[in-house]
Amino acid sequence: MTDYVYNLLKQHHSVRKFNPNDIPEETIKELIEAGQNASTSSYLQTYSIIGINDPTIKEQLKEVSGQPYVVENGYLLVFVMDYYRHATINDDKKVDMSVSFESAEGLLVGAIDVALVAQNIAVTAEDKGYGMVYLGSLRNDVARVKDILGLPEHTFPLFGMALGEPADDENGEPKPRLPLEHIFHQNKYNSDKERQRQEIEAFDQTVSEYYRNRTNGERSETWSDQIAGFMSSKQRLEMLEQLNKSGFIKQ
Ligand SMILES: Cc1cc2nc3c(=O)[nH]c(=O)nc-3n(C[C@H](O)[C@H](O)[C@H](O)COP(=O)(O)O)c2cc1C
Repeated sequence: MTDYVYNLLKQHHSVRKFNPNDIPEETIKELIEAGQNASTSSYLQTYSIIGINDPTIKEQLKEVSGQPYVVENGYLLVFVMDYYRHATINDDKKVDMSVSFESAEGLLVGAIDVALVAQNIAVTAEDKGYGMVYLGSLRNDVARVKDILGLPEHTFPLFGMALGEPADDENGEPKPRLPLEHIFHQNKYNSDKERQRQEIEAFDQTVSEYYRNRTNGERSETWSDQIAGFMSSKQRLEMLEQLNKSGFIKQ
C-alpha cells in the first residue's frame, strides 16, 4: 500500500503555459497505451485519439478554441467519441446495431469511455512530469473541427488536451475543490437546501481567497458568481444539431 497515486492526484492543476519542447513520439505512445487500459463499457472502446504535431493544424484548431496553448504546447491530442468502426461491424455482420449508437444511452456510453481514457492519459502524463489542460473549447465549432480533422459519420470531437513541460514560471497550485462532505453523501442524497446554501457560502469564501492570493488581489470572485455567470451565458447551443448530424441521439 502506498499513497503515491493519491499524492500525485492531489497535486493536479491545469497547465496553460508550456516550454517549447516537443514530447517524444515514444512517450506519446506510452500515454495512449495507458489511456487504453482504462475500463471500457461492454468492451466497446468507443474512442479514437488524434495526435497533432502539425503546426498548421494546430493553428486552425486554435482559431476554433481562441486559446494560445492549443498551438504553444509539447503535443496536442483530440479525443473523439467513435462508433465508426462499430458501424463497420454493423454493415459487415448484417445486423441492426443502430439503436446502440444512435440512442441517448449510446451517447452516454461513448462519452464516458472517452473521458476515462483521457483522464488515464492526464494522470500518466503528470506522473512523467508533464502538465496538461483539457480543451472543451474545441466544441466552439464542432463542424470546423470535424472538417479540419476529417472526422467521418458516427464520430464526434469531445475535447482536446494540450500537453507539455510546464513553463518555468508556471505557478499553478491545486485549485480548491468543494469540501468532501459537500459532495459525498452516505447511503442517501442529502437534499437539505438550507445546509447547501451554507456550504456554498463557505466555499465561496475559500474560492474568493484563492483568487485574491493568486492574483495579488486583482480577482476575488466567488465560486457561485463564477458558476452563475458561466451557466447563464448561452453557449454552444447547436450541440444537439451537431450530434444529430454526426449520427447521435437520433432514436
Ligand atoms: C472536459 C474539460 C474541458 C475543459 N476545457 C478547458 C478549456 O477549453 N480551456 C481551459 O483553459 N481549461 C479547460 N478545462 C480545465 C478546467 O477549467 C479546469 O480543470 C478547472 O478549472 C479546474 O482547475 P484545475 O484543473 O487546475 O484543477 C477543461 C476541463 C475539462 C474537464
